[in-house]
Amino acid sequence: MKRRWMRRWGVCGLALAWSLAAGCSRLGAQAPLTVASPDGRNVVTVEMLDGHLVYILHRDGRSVLLPSRLGFAFRGAPSLAEGLRITGSERSSVDETWEQPWGEVARVRDHHNELSVAVVEMSEPRRRFHVVFRAFDDGVAFRYELPEQPALASFEIQDELTEFVFADNAKAWWIPSDRPRLDRSEMLYSESPVSVLDSVQTPLTLEDRDGGHFIVIHEAHLVDYPRMFLAGQALESTKLVAALAPLAEGVKARGRTPFQTPWRTIQLADRVEDLAPSVLGLNLNPPSVLEDVGWIKPMKYVGIWWGMHIGVMTWASGPLHGATTQNTRHYIDFASQNGFGGVLVEGWNTGWDGDWIANGSVFSFTQPYPDYDLSGLAVHARERGVDLIAHNETAGGLANYEEQMEEAFALYRSLGIRAIKSGYVVDTIPGGHSHYSQEMVRHHRKVLETAARYGIMMDVHEPVHDTGERRTYPNMMTREGARGQEYNAWSGDGGNPPEHETILFFTRLLSGPMDFTPGIFDILRPDPDGRPRAADAPRVRTTVAKQLALYVVLYSPFQMAADLPENYRGHPAFQFIRDVAVDWEQTRVLRGRIGDYVVVARQERGGGDWFVGAITDEEGRAFEIPLSFLSSGEAYVAEIYADASDAHWLHNPLAMTISQERVTASTTLTLRLAPGGGQAIRIRKAS
Ligand code: NOJ
Ligand code: CA
Repeated sequence: MKRRWMRRWGVCGLALAWSLAAGCSRLGAQAPLTVASPDGRNVVTVEMLDGHLVYILHRDGRSVLLPSRLGFAFRGAPSLAEGLRITGSERSSVDETWEQPWGEVARVRDHHNELSVAVVEMSEPRRRFHVVFRAFDDGVAFRYELPEQPALASFEIQDELTEFVFADNAKAWWIPSDRPRLDRSEMLYSESPVSVLDSVQTPLTLEDRDGGHFIVIHEAHLVDYPRMFLAGQALESTKLVAALAPLAEGVKARGRTPFQTPWRTIQLADRVEDLAPSVLGLNLNPPSVLEDVGWIKPMKYVGIWWGMHIGVMTWASGPLHGATTQNTRHYIDFASQNGFGGVLVEGWNTGWDGDWIANGSVFSFTQPYPDYDLSGLAVHARERGVDLIAHNETAGGLANYEEQMEEAFALYRSLGIRAIKSGYVVDTIPGGHSHYSQEMVRHHRKVLETAARYGIMMDVHEPVHDTGERRTYPNMMTREGARGQEYNAWSGDGGNPPEHETILFFTRLLSGPMDFTPGIFDILRPDPDGRPRAADAPRVRTTVAKQLALYVVLYSPFQMAADLPENYRGHPAFQFIRDVAVDWEQTRVLRGRIGDYVVVARQERGGGDWFVGAITDEEGRAFEIPLSFLSSGEAYVAEIYADASDAHWLHNPLAMTISQERVTASTTLTLRLAPGGGQAIRIRKAS
């Protein structure tokens, strides 16, 4: 379906029609402009209030955002925030459906109405800008456009003055953004009313207090601009203001006109289940610039990885070096025997010895350790139909990485290596810029473009958050940017609490895929010396069944089987990891409550199988799940991986049952989840 239309209104004062219709007159008061979503439920109003440009958001006639100001503070130039006047507007609409090369859903409908508002300063230097609003049924978005003009040629943005003034003291699930160490967004979530928020990261998910709707603030199409955080104001205020990640000198963004900012997005849903899959941000990114995407393939992978995190291998050279030729051959053979597409190898390249976090200028991205046969292993992998995933930990050494990038990517290409997992384990990058600054955003885009030229897919750890880049560059596969499985290996607080993933699903994962790395089966692993581990030692606080369910719940086109091969061999639950799909035709969130539970069904793309994943927090739960999403008239077999009746994340995490049941679209399954548990189901056509 494709339909586009556009209506242009002239500049106020020049086009009489606009003056009459929109109430713009030279005589003073300016009537508000509005734009509504195609279903009419979400309405943005734009108007001048005391010389400030504000927008207001209603859903079903109820206020979501009260008048919220727009504008900029510049360094070396006056602010562009007061004494403004609307001079005209343009409208257009789009209704088109586009196909993703891979994703949570195969097809995405972009159906929106757009209102572009032209604004000018009333006094000299009469700088001009536009704010473009788009209203969709699942939310609204806006961005600033700064046209080329003598009075605003090059600029330094000190602050973006965009406000989000919530009509309700809504409840927010948040991680902070104002700590000296931001831990690369790898934090546990808290829950509080918006009025007490200090400074937080996006996506920020909120529920209004009477349960009327859910709101998610985020951004889309972040290019050559800093990442946005949200800063609370005085206590008891429901106002959050955009807070951009700074460059070392404190200024936030440097640029030249013409320029446009990322979209500021406000996703809206009546039910929490309707928040995912979230496509608002994808619709706000330009279509793919890659003509050939046939080489881009979702996959499951194993890797020389968990061993380092639990301390039985090292990245560095020495007797425990993980990335040896022999060990890597072993992983490649295991991957190939079990149908995995990739093998990640960390610690293959020189630079890991000593304090590797301080080795940002030392890492080589081409030079293997002497006990790693780079080209021989590439041949071994190719012969077995497995892709090696090159690990590029930069430790924040951007210059060191950029200097080597072309040569390294050319080498990988020549070896048939088509995927990179990169890493940025530092809080501040050289020069003192924020990990999320314009400098870093530029770097990530440069790496992504270079990778695309060499036919390489990216998995970025410690990234800048996802703003929908994968639409334009479908080789941007997945990223971290949240507390993942690794914390269950070594975190001083004992690991992720059982509720963690039920929050991630409705917060971080709304921005895009996450390389969480599920699948740890050896939950009660002893100490390396064989002794039982201390009660407060970090561990995976789930059941085995929940580890399986995470493959369905936490979406990623690269999905790792994170445990050591010896913990999978002969384990009956491993069959689910072998079978589970990584690319989806459609996704349905069947049940959810943030911080409590999630039940998701996804249909494999290009195959008829369905997979269901259910996870809970520390409470045991039962769900009645009608399988009405199956095709009626078809017979299916459900392969059910469930918590045993006495399973418990703390005392009995390994107890599970595996059973089969014949089902149809009219079957209702009862899913019983242990405290901290889960359930994973494959539903295949009966043969
Ligand atoms: C942190 C990443 O998240 C992890 O996966 C990786 O193993 C280490 N950095 C080393 O690069
Ligand atoms: Ca990490």
